[in-house]
Amino acid sequence: MARVALVTGGTRGIGAGIAKRLQKEGYKVAVCDVVDEQIAKFKSDTGIPGYNINVADYQAVVDGVKKIEAEVGPIDVLVNNAGITRDARFVKMTREKNWDPVIAVNLTSAFNTCNVILPGMTERKWGRIINISSMNGQRGQFGQCNYSATKAGIIGLSRSLAMECAKAGVTVNVICPGFILTEMTGAMPKEILDAEVQKIPVQRIGQPDDIAYAVVVLAADDASFITGQTISVNGGQLMP
Ligand SMILES: NC(=O)c1ccc[n+]([C@@H]2O[C@H](COP(=O)([O-])OP(=O)(O)OC[C@H]3O[C@@H](n4cnc5c(N)ncnc54)[C@H](O)[C@@H]3O)[C@@H](O)[C@H]2O)c1
Repeated sequence: MARVALVTGGTRGIGAGIAKRLQKEGYKVAVCDVVDEQIAKFKSDTGIPGYNINVADYQAVVDGVKKIEAEVGPIDVLVNNAGITRDARFVKMTREKNWDPVIAVNLTSAFNTCNVILPGMTERKWGRIINISSMNGQRGQFGQCNYSATKAGIIGLSRSLAMECAKAGVTVNVICPGFILTEMTGAMPKEILDAEVQKIPVQRIGQPDDIAYAVVVLAADDASFITGQTISVNGGQLMP
């Protein structure tokens, strides 16, 4: 029977690339997001059902997961992809505008989804949790103290969780994308984007499918011996 995968923030950018690739690989895929028009368009483009779930809101995750598991099936593969940026130099950051929302969407969200979905995985003795971090969580970035903190936090959470659920057949791994062309990076000025591409040894910007490929590898049955790992998918830009 086809395995069920949930991709958070899955209606555009990297998440959409992951959802479409998993669908192509034969998974039953569901996505969640917070923008109704994006959810509807993605469903009509791909046939993949989308659910409006704010992953920063614990109760919304409880209710949404219940609905997905009833309509699509018990979740075998969880891809925590939803993320936001609220960049500013640290001295200009405020809790309300820059810190709290980024911590909630990028880090607390992983607590919420794992806390709700993991018990079913451990009971069924099979699961794959794949958390999308960032190269900037590995190295830091000017203007991203908030974002980098969440992305580094995701790595710590994943390593600890991997230890706790390894015996139950659930693996937990992290993917750290480098520069990937999505709406998030497309909003950057062209000259900055071009300058960034010059720093990438493979001399191109990444595509969502570059990340999706790594997800497919980690989600496979054969990947049961890979857990607690952080896989960099960045064209060689950072070799941690
Ligand atoms: N694009 C890059 O170069 C890059 C690099 C490193 C890491 N990442 C990470 O990859 C992930 C995807 O990035 P992207 O570039 O595709 O971003 P994106 O902004 O294009 O897509 C993110 C999606 O998440 C959804 N989302 C936002 N808040 C949400 C919430 N509270 N609940 C549910 N969904 C929510 C958005 O509506 C959007 O559809 C993020 O975690 C990002 O930090 C991206």
